[in-house]
Amino acid sequence: MTTPMLELVNLSKHFPTRNGFGRQIGLVKAVDAVSLRIETGGIYGLAGESGSGKSTIARMIMGLATPTSGDIVLDGENVSGQSGTRAYGRKVQMVFQNPGSSLNPRRSIGASIAVPLDAHGHPRATRRQRISELLEMVQLPANFAERYPHELSGGQKQRVAIARALAVAPKLLVLDEPTSALDVSVQARVIDLLVDLGRELGLTYLFISHDLSLMRNFAERVGVLYRGQIVETGPVDQVFEHPQHDYTRLLLASVPVISAEEEAMRPRIPLIDGEIPTAEQLIALRAGAASASQRTEK
Ligand SMILES: Nc1ncnc2c1ncn2[C@@H]1O[C@H](COP(=O)(O)OP(=O)(O)O)[C@@H](O)[C@H]1O
Ligand SMILES: [Mg+2]
Repeated sequence: MTTPMLELVNLSKHFPTRNGFGRQIGLVKAVDAVSLRIETGGIYGLAGESGSGKSTIARMIMGLATPTSGDIVLDGENVSGQSGTRAYGRKVQMVFQNPGSSLNPRRSIGASIAVPLDAHGHPRATRRQRISELLEMVQLPANFAERYPHELSGGQKQRVAIARALAVAPKLLVLDEPTSALDVSVQARVIDLLVDLGRELGLTYLFISHDLSLMRNFAERVGVLYRGQIVETGPVDQVFEHPQHDYTRLLLASVPVISAEEEAMRPRIPLIDGEIPTAEQLIALRAGAASASQRTEK
């Protein structure tokens, strides 16, 4: 068997709950003996409702929270204890749910992408070149480097966050609800981009979402998290078509799954800069197309 990119072994995180006097009165088992493995190049989906422990797992993998117990093995190396270091950050990067709050509003997009490059000692001489390259990877024009976050749509901001995560060429990307703050139509295109990048760059993904229909389109294997524990795991089709656990059935029942037929019937809207145009842009576009066809009729 090959070495997995990531392995969690009996990973737990317990938070003490305290009363008004600071005395511990209980324990929240946010993550409770979670084990999973993600093969190199694989896409693992971690599903579960809000509060099931998904983000706490992500934060421990990123070294933003210390496990109560258990092990995190990254690319064959036990990293419990050394996460958060520079060498570690080169291997794992994370994309958060809210692209707005993860970008500094006073920094240009180029300056934001430069932060991880500088932190990891990327040569200054080729910095601009690398920033353009990263923007191109996420299908944004190179001149976006001069723009500021408020000038970008949600989908564009999330593309920038992905570019920034890719800056140091990590092996594993942890995506914590990366599209939950975006419109449904934009979500699908961000997922398509992630699929393409994964193939191109040989990335491994841990994709965290409460949205099972997205997960079904993206992940290869899934784990269903319920109250800090993985209650069901397996290949995505198997888990979705033959759920073994009542909780998985419940999760599935509450998710609207769009069929291929319904998808095909959705009106196609022309895109501007890779995003859905605003109503005004759309009207202008259609007016332009109408006058163009009038011209050709004459
Ligand atoms: N720093 C913390 N202190 C106390 N409890 C926490 C902390 N972080 C998370 N929790 C609790 O742990 C549980 C799991 O939270 P979280 O990992 O954010 O879930 P999810 O990402 O699936 O919504 C929740 O009950 C949450 O209230
Ligand atoms: Mg969360």
